[in-house]
Amino acid sequence: MLKIAIQAKGRLNEECVSLLADAGIKASSGSRRLISQAKGFPMEILYLRDDDIPQAVAMGVADIGIVGQNEVAEKSLDVEEVMPLGFGACRISIAVPRDADYTGPGWLAGRRIATSYPVILRRWLDEQGVEAEIHEIAGSVEIAPAVGMADAIFDIVSSGGTLIQNGLREVEKVFPSEAVLISRPDLDEERRGELDTLCFRFKSILDSRGMKYVLMNIPESAVEAAVAILPAMKSPTLLPLTLEGWYSLHVVISEDHLWEKIRQLKEIGAEDILVLALENIIR
Ligand code: PRP
Ligand code: ZN
Repeated sequence: MLKIAIQAKGRLNEECVSLLADAGIKASSGSRRLISQAKGFPMEILYLRDDDIPQAVAMGVADIGIVGQNEVAEKSLDVEEVMPLGFGACRISIAVPRDADYTGPGWLAGRRIATSYPVILRRWLDEQGVEAEIHEIAGSVEIAPAVGMADAIFDIVSSGGTLIQNGLREVEKVFPSEAVLISRPDLDEERRGELDTLCFRFKSILDSRGMKYVLMNIPESAVEAAVAILPAMKSPTLLPLTLEGWYSLHVVISEDHLWEKIRQLKEIGAEDILVLALENIIR
């Protein structure tokens, strides 16, 4: 039985719960309980503050966890990063009041920087050869400059909305981060096997994200051109229609290229193009 720690509430919670659900693991979402038993997988789910997840995993209170790389790096504990999960993208950045005359890292020398990430900030300041005063605060870092507690902040930026609301401007993107699956390094064989199963499911879900299943009718004369246009896992599937000289062509396409490919396919004579959602790719 694996114990997984996920964020109780906040940016990563919903995506964690939905990734687990896609993997066939039902968590009782919105539950105020600290621990719940999952359905569909031998797993217990612990709901914690994101800041506490690396420590919970390092101590073995949880076997694995889902948390931002920002927290993993800040806590510098003995946990393994098993796989990135493709959501919760953000960065930790230096931000200053909108009209400050920021010129570069040297501007921070002798100034006060408020942050919940003193370890990552100290490392970066050292790299820049800049000496500044680090003020560690647990939350609401973004109000520190307005209330006169700091000249700059070092905090998570995702959409950038919080900075704008607080009259701040992002000037240095220091640490890029996304959600990762972490594990304690000393899992026993049984749990390691369960973790492998979980990773296999996560991977097939992540692989299928942003992918579409596309079908179209195509005349025989255009088949070769269509195959040249289309990426495919091995090669596109080609099925004869009952109508002489026509085929049905099936392929998996990334959303990023979808509309460009469809334009090219129509140009060479593809018709009746269907675009379907894809749930899993099991390789
Ligand atoms: C972070 C950060 C900002 C906000 C930035 O908080 O402290 O408040 O997100 O996001 P935005 O650029 O999209 O506005 P988070 O939700 O991680 O909560 P926490 O710091 O309390 O863990
Ligand atoms: Zn937090």
